[in-house]
Amino acid sequence: MAGDNIYYFDNNATTRIAEEVIESMMPFFTDLWGNASAAYRFGTDVSRSIRYARAKVAELVAAEPEEIIFTSCGTESNNAAWQGALFTQPGKKHILTTAVEHSANMKFGDHLKKRGYEVTSLPVESDGSIDLHLLEKSIRPDTALVSIMWANNETGVVLPIEEIAAIARSRGALFHTDAVQVAGKMNIDVRLTRVDYLSLSAHKLHAPKGIGCLFVRKGAPFTPYVVGGGQERGCRGGTENVPYIVGFGRAAELAMASITEENTRVRDLRDRMENTILDTIPRTSRNGARASRLPNTSNLAFHGVEAEALLLMLDRAGICAATGSACKTGSIEPSHVLTAMGLRSDLAKASMRLSLGIYNTHEDVDFLLEKLPEIISKLRDEE
Ligand SMILES: Cc1ncc(COP(=O)(O)O)c(C=O)c1O
Repeated sequence: MAGDNIYYFDNNATTRIAEEVIESMMPFFTDLWGNASAAYRFGTDVSRSIRYARAKVAELVAAEPEEIIFTSCGTESNNAAWQGALFTQPGKKHILTTAVEHSANMKFGDHLKKRGYEVTSLPVESDGSIDLHLLEKSIRPDTALVSIMWANNETGVVLPIEEIAAIARSRGALFHTDAVQVAGKMNIDVRLTRVDYLSLSAHKLHAPKGIGCLFVRKGAPFTPYVVGGGQERGCRGGTENVPYIVGFGRAAELAMASITEENTRVRDLRDRMENTILDTIPRTSRNGARASRLPNTSNLAFHGVEAEALLLMLDRAGICAATGSACKTGSIEPSHVLTAMGLRSDLAKASMRLSLGIYNTHEDVDFLLEKLPEIISKLRDEE
């Protein structure tokens, strides 16, 4: 259970801040509040803590500390990578991405299109995977950047980033991946995958909201997105958010210590939850690839049910879950991810995401498994 009377199954949206992370941050609110850029010890003590956090975040993705730029969030990291790739290659005006990216990329693409850039969104297959031949064919001489998410936030589908990065490289394009949903759930090694840019967000791995980072491979072109003081080696202006950076570092350390064991534990929990739901609730189907999925994510369609109504009923029982639907001009639009996978609109609107995390227990899953069938029957009776 996540808090008082809350059964939390929405860990892809955000995660509970770990006690150890809060403890690591507190001194930087109370005693160590100096400016990290100052020359006196009250400042250099703080900058040493930033250095330590940077080293830990770098270690989480097998990068060098100098390759990590702290940002305010995953959204900023994604925007910074795209803009950095475009502004450093002014002759190239094309970005190649997919139709299932987070809105941080989708909306930035729309923003760029209005400013004379071209953005191509690759379609996906019905299981959420992409056609690598089509990817290769779609990279053009003027493609500044290929940007493809590592794992999808709604379905948990994991894409073969090592192969995708190799294709982009072989066709002379820079490569960015949004790894916001991967950190803390699967191992990331930027040396093996050979990406040029990689985005992370700390609130997905038990640190607070409002801190993220962008990995920029040594030698990859980059120009700052947020321009100001010389912080982050001139790559991102703004006085450092010290407590949050320290918390991110501590969260990275904790994630590295438990990732292997948690990956198995959470996968077992997810599989038990998902298989029981599929076995016991009729007219239910799974969205997304069976094999290549994050260990914690399940996206299920309850045929004949409005998922928005389902969320409200679950909420009354103290259960937090999510849909990828968006409210647009007063009506519910089905998830762009499920729509891109070719799911019928009624099934997309009947789909719900359950995402587990390190604090979920068998008791949480039992509680969900007890409540869900009766709620689904009630909603279907109301049809
Ligand atoms: C895949 C993905 N990318 C980017 C983001 C944005 O991260 P942030 O909330 O830190 O801006 C999210 C958050 O939901 C995400 O799931």
